Amino acid sequence: VEHTLLLIKPDAVRRGLVGEILSRVERKGLRIRALELRTIDDDLARRHYAEHAAKPFFADLVAFITSGPLVAAVIEGPRAVETLRTLMGSTDPVAAPPGTIRGDFGLLVTENLVHGSDSVTSAAREIALFFPHFAADA
Ligand code: GTP
Ligand code: MG
Repeated sequence: VEHTLLLIKPDAVRRGLVGEILSRVERKGLRIRALELRTIDDDLARRHYAEHAAKPFFADLVAFITSGPLVAAVIEGPRAVETLRTLMGSTDPVAAPPGTIRGDFGLLVTENLVHGSDSVTSAAREIALFFPHFAADA
């Protein structure tokens, strides 16, 4: 069984879409193994998005992800990483098909509602950042 990090980003929390998004994840058959509402600081945001540090949109990305409370969750299931990415739809909501979270609710590439780890390796790194005490076999 695999684990992945889901972030319900501040735009989705502000719009009241937390239940809708968690419901889609659960109805798919994935399981919530950890869950927290919190506002992250600059340091955690920069570490989480470290791979994008040199990109022109990095400052906007960090400002947005720290702009209010987000919901962080550890999601479990067979091929959870890929399954969550499929539920989310592509990064740019304009390209994400209806039926996906970004396709149904998003318009802007920055305010794109959710984050899901992009590989098993990223998932392990990101889960350790957000949930340092998470134990997969507990
Ligand atoms: P995350 O799940 O948030 O990591 O999104 P992703 O894996 O679909 O995309 P990626 O990791 O490549 O980019 C991280 C975030 O940076 C995205 O969610 C976008 O909000 C933002 N981003 C990516 N590409 C662009 C871009 O070309 N322009 C702008 N303004 N933002 C971008
Ligand atoms: Mg990413």
